[in-house]
Amino acid sequence: MQIIEDPEEMQQTGLNWRCREERVALVPTMGYFHEGHLSLIGWARQNSDRTVVSLFVNPTQFGPGEDFQDYPRDFDRDCDLAREMGVDVLFAPQAQQMYPGNHATWLQVPELSKYLCGASRPGHFQGVCTVVSKLFNIILPHIAVFGRKDWQQLAVISRMARDLNMPVEVVGRPIVREEDGLAVSSRNTYLDTEQRRQAAWIYAGLERAREWVAAGETDAAAIKDRLRRFYQGQIPSGQIDYIEIVDSREIYPVDEAGNNALLAVAVYLGRARLIDNILLQGE
Ligand code: PAJ
Repeated sequence: MQIIEDPEEMQQTGLNWRCREERVALVPTMGYFHEGHLSLIGWARQNSDRTVVSLFVNPTQFGPGEDFQDYPRDFDRDCDLAREMGVDVLFAPQAQQMYPGNHATWLQVPELSKYLCGASRPGHFQGVCTVVSKLFNIILPHIAVFGRKDWQQLAVISRMARDLNMPVEVVGRPIVREEDGLAVSSRNTYLDTEQRRQAAWIYAGLERAREWVAAGETDAAAIKDRLRRFYQGQIPSGQIDYIEIVDSREIYPVDEAGNNALLAVAVYLGRARLIDNILLQGE
């Protein structure tokens, strides 16, 4: 496995592969690999000739007071895991290489960034879109693979790629969970034992909500209210950031949990802000 820091060297490598008609897959990450990352990497390996994993804790997608400085990092372990997975290139640039002092260009998908994490984290998706489009231009992948845990991120990036005619197929993959249902996340390492125990109720609540819908309750306000009370009972140490039911493609709140309704939540537990989601009907 090659480790490349320099964006120009990475671009040359991507260009060479493209010229040889090798199919290149990119898995963008911020490192500290877990089973969620590894499932994306495994899929990328099986569906391409060349797999690039980018590892860059992107400063522009963190707001003031968020966990950019503390974000967990373990470069050596990540290198070992990527190597074991058969990754061709680990692209790990420095912040100055990605954002020279006079960086002045920003990308946004405002229509899909108004609610959920877009509302709670102003500027977050601008940072994500900008870095992901830079990665697309540097690596020149045919396919880019993202997890549905960050559903809104996947929706935003898919739309950006389509609207700007980026020659990249954006692929979404299922959420990997711990045995008790908690979505695997780098931020789970922030949880102490009691917080970790309560965190399992986040997904349990989403599953309950799906059952309420299957039993005929489709009023979004009623479902959100019931879930809020459920969380207050089961996750007493938690602070709900949002509980929202949105159209899964256009990411705006809906009144009825019909087809394509996505229930998305963000809950603070101690220092960790945990997100999860479930489609209320269908697969
Ligand atoms: P990061 O949080 O490292 O996540 C990298 C990818 O792993 C994302 O596509 C995310 O949705 C996926 N992922 C995380 N947890 C997952 C899980 N439990 N199951 C399946 N997939 C999971 O998301 C980012 O980094 C950044 O915003 C990035 C896109 C790299 C831009 O900086």
